[in-house]
Amino acid sequence: MAEKKIIAIMGATGMQGGGLARAILRDKESKFAVRAITRDVNSEKAKELAKLGAELVAADIDDPESLKRAFSGAYGAYCVTFYWAHMSPEKELEEARSMAEAAKAAGLKHVIWSTLDDTRRYIPLSDTRMPTLMGKYKVPHYDAKGEADHIFRDLRLPVTFLLTSFYWDNFIHFGLGPKPGPDGIPAITLPMGDKKLPGIAAEDIGKCAYGIFKKGRKYIGKTVGIAGGFLTGAQIAASFSKALGQEVRYNEVSPEAYRSFGYPGAEEMGNMFQFKRDFEKEYCGARNLKVARSLNPELQTFDEWLECFRSQILAQLQPAGVTA
Ligand SMILES: NC(=O)c1ccc[n+]([C@@H]2O[C@H](COP(=O)([O-])OP(=O)(O)OC[C@H]3O[C@@H](n4cnc5c(N)ncnc54)[C@H](OP(=O)(O)O)[C@@H]3O)[C@@H](O)[C@H]2O)c1
Repeated sequence: MAEKKIIAIMGATGMQGGGLARAILRDKESKFAVRAITRDVNSEKAKELAKLGAELVAADIDDPESLKRAFSGAYGAYCVTFYWAHMSPEKELEEARSMAEAAKAAGLKHVIWSTLDDTRRYIPLSDTRMPTLMGKYKVPHYDAKGEADHIFRDLRLPVTFLLTSFYWDNFIHFGLGPKPGPDGIPAITLPMGDKKLPGIAAEDIGKCAYGIFKKGRKYIGKTVGIAGGFLTGAQIAASFSKALGQEVRYNEVSPEAYRSFGYPGAEEMGNMFQFKRDFEKEYCGARNLKVARSLNPELQTFDEWLECFRSQILAQLQPAGVTA
């Protein structure tokens, strides 16, 4: 049997990289093998991947030499940055550069760079519709990723730019899920007006990435935008109501109100949603459901995703100490 091609996966114990690692490891016919890159090969999540058949390799994105070692001998790499660990766009740019340079040094045949739109292409810093943040960004974690695209291009890497979408999992892990309003009725709060928010099950991002690797050269040099659904706040709330068997409302707020919510990153998230609201056509247009489904036939709809996580979401709605 031909030797399997190694995919070195950054963030393999996380959402995106984990989805890719599991997609490869569960495919018994796969021509690829997983090299899971982690800072801690002894963590429970790392050990779970090893049990499924992954090779574990220790590396830290802050240590470029460790990345070079981790990419060495691989066929491809999945490159994702860790913005929310530090909330610094400059650091995110450095992370992207370290991965791109390690990919170059290893002579990789295919790199997937998990990127996002540089919003400043649509809304320049001089535009006062939303505040400029950290001196030179509108949506720092979008702008830095989009800006980093050129690093991969300039190094002439065989790269696919994967434009991801809002994880529906944010409704569980990022505190964006339904919360009881003053009248006790749960509501999801978004500053999206009546515009559509492209979203995806986080696990499906990795599955789409696997589809890209499986296509060989087809997507090298291309940008692939993926989503599992495009829903308005009202549609999201209606799906929640149906899945949870109780009314969930859409609490529409202004981006200004959202920015003032005070949680770490609220200003940035307010800008992010405003960008998606004000540039709905361009933002949705950059993502393609059919392409995502062709890469990943198991792509979930929002209703299917809700069905899987129904009990977790219901548990979060319960006051502490009450079980569903
Ligand atoms: N939330 C969303 O809706 C959304 C949508 C699109 C894009 N994104 C972007 O997704 C990115 C995060 O990806 P994710 O959600 O898959 O991550 P995640 O689930 O938060 O997992 C974080 C992963 O990062 C690894 N990690 C953290 N610091 C590291 C370091 N210094 N060196 C090496 N590995 C490190 C961790 O591995 P170990 O602990 O095992 O080392 C872990 O696997 C962010 O940049 C975010 O902007 C998020």
